[in-house]
Amino acid sequence: DNPYVFITRKVPAETIKAIREVADVKMWDHEDQPVPREVLLEEASYATGLFTMLTDQIDQELLDRAPHLKVVGNLAVGYDNINVEAATERGVTICNTPDVLTDTTADLTFALLMAAARRITEAERYIEEGKWVNWSPLLMAGQDVHHKTIGIVGMGRIGETVAKRATGFDMNIQYHNRTRSEKAEQELGASYVSFDELIETSDFVVNLTPLTDETKGMFNKDVFRKMKKTAIFVNAGRGGSVVEMDLVQAIENNQIAGAGLDVYEKEPIPEDHPLLQFPNVVCLPHIGSSSVETRMEMCRLTARNIRNVLNGDEPEAAVNRK
Ligand code: GLV
Ligand code: GLV
Repeated sequence: DNPYVFITRKVPAETIKAIREVADVKMWDHEDQPVPREVLLEEASYATGLFTMLTDQIDQELLDRAPHLKVVGNLAVGYDNINVEAATERGVTICNTPDVLTDTTADLTFALLMAAARRITEAERYIEEGKWVNWSPLLMAGQDVHHKTIGIVGMGRIGETVAKRATGFDMNIQYHNRTRSEKAEQELGASYVSFDELIETSDFVVNLTPLTDETKGMFNKDVFRKMKKTAIFVNAGRGGSVVEMDLVQAIENNQIAGAGLDVYEKEPIPEDHPLLQFPNVVCLPHIGSSSVETRMEMCRLTARNIRNVLNGDEPEAAVNRK
């Protein structure tokens, strides 16, 4: 029997040629809707490989029902949607897409920081709503970015690349991470500080940590209370790292000056979500890696990861292999 790979969302056909070399492929082909859970479970019961989105829950239940499964290629660098331990026990290789999205995600993170600081989206709305009737000295006056202190929580590849962007703006760079980053310190002049020092002294607090038991809810009301009143919080990691209602209150009570968010506790956030009501909070729909070039490259890498595992070769990026 040929291996069978199910792709949970429509992706450009030309990006998945590598999988077709070794397997029969079926793609969920509804343009605007994710695959329903029941369909995913059904497909998983036949599949040797799954090409998944960060919105698909690859949990114990699914893995129990997938006796032939050898590989899951997740179209993301993060893999908190996957029970990696359960997959490892069952000999299922979990692959992700690091590196190819690093620069693109760092670009978006910096764009979010700048948009919040300089009130970009608010200012555009101001024109669109016909409110621009004259120029005035403090019209849409925001905060400077250059020469300010950026505090990066989670100094992985993306964090380092955001730090590199920050050097171009003459920022003072500090970071907190489980392990020290020699690259950030030596090449980018970043200083390692404790989490408390970071949140108390940064003008921009940027979260890029993966979602784990340790980072879940780490940005809570105590943390927002310790931030500068002028601080801007940027989250391009995972929404689960933030207690969202605490962030809403911190904004409401002017404990911090604003936020730039690409990720949420529950995605998509509804149109009437309180975070969307604040002019000083910039919200994006989880598009960190979303340039055409990078998303295409992520699809190709995912396809090669799956092909390699099905061929008995090493994948380019796996999270549970030696
Ligand atoms: C996106 O959030 C990713 O993990 O790639
Ligand atoms: C995480 O893997 C990162 O690239 O920061």
